[in-house]
Amino acid sequence: MTEVVHDIPALRARQDAWRQAGQRIGLVPTMGALHAGHIALVRAARAATDRVIVTVFVNPTQFGPGEDLDAYPRTLDADVALLRAEGADVVFAPTVQTMYPPGFATRVHVDGLTDVLCGAARPGHFDGVAQVVTKLLNLGAADEAFFGEKDWQQLAIIRRLAADLNFRTRIVGVPTVRAEDGLALSSRNAYLSAEERQIAPRLFRELTRVADAVARGVPAARASEAAREALLAAGFRAVDYVEVRDADDLSPVETTPAAGRPARVFGAAHLGRARLIDNVPVPAPARSGDGAGDA
Ligand code: PAF
Repeated sequence: MTEVVHDIPALRARQDAWRQAGQRIGLVPTMGALHAGHIALVRAARAATDRVIVTVFVNPTQFGPGEDLDAYPRTLDADVALLRAEGADVVFAPTVQTMYPPGFATRVHVDGLTDVLCGAARPGHFDGVAQVVTKLLNLGAADEAFFGEKDWQQLAIIRRLAADLNFRTRIVGVPTVRAEDGLALSSRNAYLSAEERQIAPRLFRELTRVADAVARGVPAARASEAAREALLAAGFRAVDYVEVRDADDLSPVETTPAAGRPARVFGAAHLGRARLIDNVPVPAPARSGDGAGDA
């Protein structure tokens, strides 16, 4: 049975009972408007732990001025129905007041990793994410917490945060779920018109093209610039970034990544009302003699 819980004492009571029974707890933090990407997180949690808590909270502190906080889809009843079907044990859906009561004054900032990519385009966004995830990890007291690789930078920041602050919870990344045409599933895909939905998979295709080019030895800056131009030509309204970076510390990668240092291509671009993000791995470098082609 899936229970919906709105307050912290009720959440803690469930967890205390599970702990006393020796059960392991999995936590899946979400902002709701659930899709197959979230369901993959819930299934990973169910496979790895005995009890699963899914949090549904549209966290206002991670939205900047002029962003889509008010428009962000809120579909709690449908989310709960999906989570029931998936066998989640508890849906924790707090109010803003519960999470940030009057007098709340604590900020959480992770240096470095938060300044680049989406951090540069959305100042303060990752401080809000770090703040709410710190709270959810404390409230959830979970053994494992599950986050999607679509938000790779967020995942890298949360791993850093959990290591630096000695959280007991193991942070688990779950591969991105894609539509058949390659578009990464995202709650914000709901903003796309039918025509924009046709264009949207170009982001994944261009990032994949950059990854393959860089693996062949094409300089990252050249391959990324070609992708930016292709996205704008395809109908994207603006491109925040296409960049190749180290998968762990997010430092820039200029040419073929060093052996043993996985790299990824990251992209964020605006299509109509939607800001889409995605990332793909750079394949292991081609053997010498394969030659460098064009981006
Ligand atoms: O990825 C999300 O949905 C959110 O950033 C998270 C991790 C639930 C924090 O609000």
